Amino acid sequence: MEKLVSSWYKNKTLPESYIFPPETRPGNLIVPTCKTIPVIDLGNAVGQNRTRIIQQILKASQEYGFFQVINHGIPEDVMDQSMDVFKEFFEMPAEDKAMLYSQDPENSCRLLTSSVNYGREKFHHWRDNLRHPCHLLEDCIKIWPQKPIRYREVVATYSIEAKKLGLRILELVAEGLGLESGHFGGKLSESRLLSANYYPPCPDPSLTMGMSKHCDPQLLTILHQGDVNGLQVFNNGEWIGVEPLHNAFVVNIGNTLQIISNNKLKSAAHRVVTNSNLARTSAAFFIAPSRYSIIEPAKSLIGDDVSLYRAFEFQDFLLHYFPNMENNEVVMERFRSQA
Ligand code: OGA
Ligand code: NI
Repeated sequence: MEKLVSSWYKNKTLPESYIFPPETRPGNLIVPTCKTIPVIDLGNAVGQNRTRIIQQILKASQEYGFFQVINHGIPEDVMDQSMDVFKEFFEMPAEDKAMLYSQDPENSCRLLTSSVNYGREKFHHWRDNLRHPCHLLEDCIKIWPQKPIRYREVVATYSIEAKKLGLRILELVAEGLGLESGHFGGKLSESRLLSANYYPPCPDPSLTMGMSKHCDPQLLTILHQGDVNGLQVFNNGEWIGVEPLHNAFVVNIGNTLQIISNNKLKSAAHRVVTNSNLARTSAAFFIAPSRYSIIEPAKSLIGDDVSLYRAFEFQDFLLHYFPNMENNEVVMERFRSQA
């Protein structure tokens, strides 16, 4: 518990265990702003406009693996209240958070620090993280934090809205790829996880990381990144900053969707850098297959091409993902088809 960055960071210099080697440090903290990921307006997705939106989503998913959405239908107060309640959670006194602190993956609702690999990583990350499932809501809400008092109510509403938005985007993706309607419904999107991050102000952002370079393993991520800079996407050999846009969501393609699309869509590497002035709070809503789902490239997408991946159970993917999450080549290699 005393390991949580939010519990000890005040008036401290950066401990040695948080200093990354030069090759994985943020390097230049100022990233180019001339290049940005696409912003897609989801309002009025009917008729010709729907076709145009689908094309924009597909293009962004191919070129960047990332896009932002505006006019997405999630009310502003639902977004604001959820962000407030996550901040409040992380800023509560240590004793209110103590019972949730755990580095044991068997605990499905838990508060951890740095990363899921705390015990085996060489360098720690400047980040605290609260994660819990959101499906089935009636069951899992009972294990969510009880403080702040309104946490469960606010996050339940938020998770219902985030799920609706995610499934709507997946439906547009399916249509764009030429898959049947509902392709990503059912078991392929049955698991939903909320992962809230807190990156306190950092004494030396140039030496450490909030999150190291990684790809998300799931199908789709709907990220509420708040108003503070920090997220960067790796694109064509350079890092580009994802500009915080009020009321927008950042959406990114996970490894599983890249595989199902037979590499037509791309799961892009991204990372989080810290800053010295402001605490940054973000909330990722991950949509993933249920653990026994069989994942493989969609047959109708392969056509005359070769299937680039073999079939596997989603739980096997996760087991291989977490220990290797900082090297996506190693993650994906195991699931490629044998030539
Ligand atoms: C993640 C992630 C980005 C952020 O949780 O996988 O990439 O802005 N988060 O916190
Ligand atoms: Ni991520």
